[in-house]
Amino acid sequence: MSQTNQQWGGRFTESTDAFVQAFTASVQFDQRMYRQDIAGSIAHATMLAEAGVLNEADRAAIVAGLEAIRAEIERGEFEWSIALEDVHMNVEARLTERIGLAGKRLHTGRSRNDQVATDIRLYLRDAIDAILAELTRLQHGLVELAEREADTIMPGFTHLQVAQPVSFGHHLLAWFEQLKRDSGRYRDCRARLNECPLGAAALAGTTYPIDRHRTASLLGFAGPTENSLDSVSDRDFAIEFCSASALLMTHLSRFSEELVLWASAQFGFVDIPDRFCTGSSIMPQKKNPDVPELVRGKSGRVHGHLVGLLTLMKGQPLAYNKDNQEDKEPLFDTVDTVLGSLRAFADMVPALRARPERMRAAALQGFATATDLADYLVRKGVPFRDAHEIVGKAVRLGVDTGRDLSQMRLEELRAFSDAIGADVFDSLTLEGSLAARNHFGGTAPAQVRAAVQRARKWLAE
Ligand code: ARG
Repeated sequence: MSQTNQQWGGRFTESTDAFVQAFTASVQFDQRMYRQDIAGSIAHATMLAEAGVLNEADRAAIVAGLEAIRAEIERGEFEWSIALEDVHMNVEARLTERIGLAGKRLHTGRSRNDQVATDIRLYLRDAIDAILAELTRLQHGLVELAEREADTIMPGFTHLQVAQPVSFGHHLLAWFEQLKRDSGRYRDCRARLNECPLGAAALAGTTYPIDRHRTASLLGFAGPTENSLDSVSDRDFAIEFCSASALLMTHLSRFSEELVLWASAQFGFVDIPDRFCTGSSIMPQKKNPDVPELVRGKSGRVHGHLVGLLTLMKGQPLAYNKDNQEDKEPLFDTVDTVLGSLRAFADMVPALRARPERMRAAALQGFATATDLADYLVRKGVPFRDAHEIVGKAVRLGVDTGRDLSQMRLEELRAFSDAIGADVFDSLTLEGSLAARNHFGGTAPAQVRAAVQRARKWLAE
């Protein structure tokens, strides 16, 4: 038999079953919120003293004691106890052990329900800041690479079939745009979660003359949460965070899929430096793109965590329920997975080496400039549908004779339409095709360079 918890054991006549104690504990994983828990307690004690609920000597002892405990934890000297259930009670029990009676006064006017809701918000706020920093680092890498590769021509694909030539820089900036939206979603989430639940206590508020605005401002929140019941029961912010993360991981997964394809011998568009790859224990020739493969794989668990949290919340009546303790492991794993994936990508992307000759060779196969020939005919007065038909026949000849449109003689092409003149070859080159798409958001290298400048400006804001 384990001991009854001293912080709530008063009304119990038998000790908690040893297995139940371990089963219901969260300290194994919520100890990672110790810094947020201590910051919340210091703000709460400061507010209580200002409101005259705590005397100055108790406040000073509590603050000094909590700071000493934080240092103990950071030195690895703190003894976490399953019997004390969670991070909140572990810290509080240690405080009382260190400073005596004053430690027992800290929990005046609060509950673990508002305390845990506050800790998670503080934790996620920090996590979002760290994620945004890595996201920005990755975006910088993409912009640098995009500028360097603005003139590099690769085949653009639809249905994974060669469609039209594009600038490699343009393709890189497509990824940048995805990440720009992800960044916006994290910032929205941060702004919405930045409210302080402290003072909601168990669910109904408290009888002490507390100042919730003061606690909120001490912790850097925009203000207190509006409704005490909602304050302790709401985990929307965790779901929003996981939702933003699920979408980010979807983007990184698509990005990964392209890198895996491009690094293959069949494509050969990019070279991923050895330090981001591993070999095979049996096949000496292998160099595997492990980082993108693993990130693609890790998107699965993050998607799962989002569904897990939605399901966790859907059946809960107001206000707090113990179910909520299950919010932390998926949340923490999401933070770790997203941070790790972003870090790997931010390190790897600037080191990617393009292989322009392979990209060019691929772009010259598959009639990537067929649309350009149709557009040329339209400029010469041929209706687009007729032009489409004419070019289709020219492509047929190319397929049968194993040649690209640009490799045909003028007379051959003129057999399909006498609107075709000697100037047609300007439209059939890869360079001509790119340069012609010279509008906002297009793939002309000049437009890619302009987009790079806009991306830099966005990053500097
Ligand atoms: N460990 C709990 C959690 O993670 C803290 C709040 C417990 N509150 C309670 N009334 N049992 O949610």
